Amino acid sequence: MRSDPGLRHRTLTRKHFLIGAGAALLARCGPGPLVMGPELAPPDAGDPDSRSDSGSPDSGSPDSGPPDSGSPDAGVRDAGVTPQCPETAYDSIGPCHRPNAPIRTLLSEPGDGAPLFITGLVTGKSCRAIANAEIDVWHANAQGTYSDLSVCGGSDGATFRWRGRQFSSQDGAWGLQSIYPGSFQNRPIHIHLQVTAPGYQPLITQIYFQDDPFLVNEGPKPTSLVVLPRWVGAERHAVFNVVLAPV
Ligand SMILES: [Fe+2]
Repeated sequence: MRSDPGLRHRTLTRKHFLIGAGAALLARCGPGPLVMGPELAPPDAGDPDSRSDSGSPDSGSPDSGPPDSGSPDAGVRDAGVTPQCPETAYDSIGPCHRPNAPIRTLLSEPGDGAPLFITGLVTGKSCRAIANAEIDVWHANAQGTYSDLSVCGGSDGATFRWRGRQFSSQDGAWGLQSIYPGSFQNRPIHIHLQVTAPGYQPLITQIYFQDDPFLVNEGPKPTSLVVLPRWVGAERHAVFNVVLAPV
């Protein structure tokens, strides 16, 4: 099963993504009354596998109300609240972002490298799910170079490899299936995110890995940005929740 990434991907279902979103919610907020809805998978979902258990940056109680709808004042209800879900820390965008990546959650192709699955939730500081947040993801390949941009080592033209955009579900769920990146110029291994939603401040940040030997090459990272993947065979599985601040 591990030897055939294509087969592996074909076995992933919406159910896996649902379970992953639930794991992400529990990791953030603990058991609570929020009920997961039926429409978790974003457009063209690659249905990332769900089995992940670490990287929860904080805890708090979920708000059981409906998700933010993406209306212009959606962040108002998060303004001034005591942050049960502290906002995710900023990190630099770096030189390797390329806008208008395809809408997809499967960012790699068979043979690209070691499988990596990330699932999580997008919420406000009250822990209320944010639906339809746009999550733009990009990262280096297993050798530590980015696609498309020569300044970042890319020489493959406009492929958008290891890049993708998606929208959080009605329950705020997001996720990706890709490969574990290599180190870019001896930087800690990382995955870039840019998250935007009406009523909330845009967030640019990076996900780091606690067990990465390159992590010591830079100063300490905010705890909200560091995940510890769980191994499932040859696959890494992690949870990364995104908390946006209101405008
Ligand atoms: Fe980078």
